[in-house]
Amino acid sequence: MRVNIIYDSKYGNNKKIAKYVGNSFENNNVKVFFVKDTDPDYIRDADLYIFSTPTQVGKATKKMRKFVKNLNVDGRNVKYGLITTYSKEKTDSLAELEMKLKSKGFEKATENLKLKVDGKKGNLEDGYEKKIDKFLERVT
Ligand SMILES: Cc1cc2nc3c(=O)[nH]c(=O)nc-3n(C[C@H](O)[C@H](O)[C@H](O)COP(=O)(O)O)c2cc1C
Repeated sequence: MRVNIIYDSKYGNNKKIAKYVGNSFENNNVKVFFVKDTDPDYIRDADLYIFSTPTQVGKATKKMRKFVKNLNVDGRNVKYGLITTYSKEKTDSLAELEMKLKSKGFEKATENLKLKVDGKKGNLEDGYEKKIDKFLERVT
């Protein structure tokens, strides 16, 4: 299985998550991309996409929303999983991304994972690794 992991991150928490996710897959077909350095046209080749984004102003970041808007998989059967971090309360911050992904033919692999950070800058909540492990069990 080919897996692309795309993250955005201002303070490093989603970067940490993306790296953890990347290291959790045992095969070599896993790539981790920072959204700002990545052109959606060049990463069309995966079977599974995992997105990890901060919640900012109640939504995924602008860069992540733009990226997903421009990502096309040409009608292939592709799955996705979504992770977000938040500092206040759990909101429906991923709804817009989900709608976009669905409209492009992506299939949701599992329920979204929402991880709390302590204040704007983090750290991530205790036990986040276990939550990611469970998320990945459901995704794959
Ligand atoms: C401009 C901005 C807006 C934010 N808005 C929200 C928000 O609406 N709800 C929330 O729970 N956290 C909000 N936060 C906190 C972020 O969710 C938190 O900084 C982020 O999850 C940390 O991830 P990162 O280290 O990968 O950047 C906001 C942070 C910034 C910088």
